[in-house]
Amino acid sequence: MTKALVIGNWKMNMDYVEAIHLVQQLGVLVRGQTLDHTEVAVAPPFVDLRSVTSVIEADRLPVVVAAQHVHSADAGAFTGEISVAMLKRLGVKYVLVGHSERRSLFGMTDAVVSDTAAAVTQGGMTAVICCGETFEERELDRTTEVLQHQLQIAFSKINTKNCDRVVIAYEPVWAIGSGTAATTEDISLACKAIDSAIPSSWPTKPRILYGGSVNSENCGSIVENSPVDGFLVGGASLKADDFSAIVGITNACYRR
Ligand code: PGA
Repeated sequence: MTKALVIGNWKMNMDYVEAIHLVQQLGVLVRGQTLDHTEVAVAPPFVDLRSVTSVIEADRLPVVVAAQHVHSADAGAFTGEISVAMLKRLGVKYVLVGHSERRSLFGMTDAVVSDTAAAVTQGGMTAVICCGETFEERELDRTTEVLQHQLQIAFSKINTKNCDRVVIAYEPVWAIGSGTAATTEDISLACKAIDSAIPSSWPTKPRILYGGSVNSENCGSIVENSPVDGFLVGGASLKADDFSAIVGITNACYRR
């Protein structure tokens, strides 16, 4: 049975002391729920990863760790960057690849997304490949085309034997941090576009997450009424109560 996945993307928030507190609070709340078919992950800033993984191990918290970004090269003169092997050694399981903020603010191109997704999956971790249309693209009715284009390139260098190490996050750029999530109709249409971009040679279909203003009020309806397998949560993942509520509701509403 497929497990739902809920990832908290902390973005550039939480120093390592705050991160330790947040993951401890979250871990206790999550442990108090019976999560039979939902996996919980947090994506802290790089400098917090070691502290967060140590707390999870020491307190045996039912939470796994994701990274927000990685460089595709093995090692070398890439000042400011982090490698796949460094993350793997820390016990990181998921890596966000091509978040819209990396694309729009840090010049991450589709080609770099492709190299990164290949490196992450080859390195034994799961790539959470982010895709999504801007407001203008949506207004021009180009959502399907944009998603297919982004994903075809993102998938192009992934070895078929690693295709079970892919998760897709549909994150419409206009919905991120806006307070307005996409409708279940929008999300269902996007899932169709995403499905059509998955290589026919892949024996397994990746899970699809939705991200963009997810909260405890909208997540139940989204997971019940659209074909998503969980969420990538930004703002609402910074409070343990809010995030654990999203996790609990997802677990209660997800059936696949
Ligand atoms: P948001 O962010 O939940 O704050 O809209 C989601 C994301 O950027 O992953």
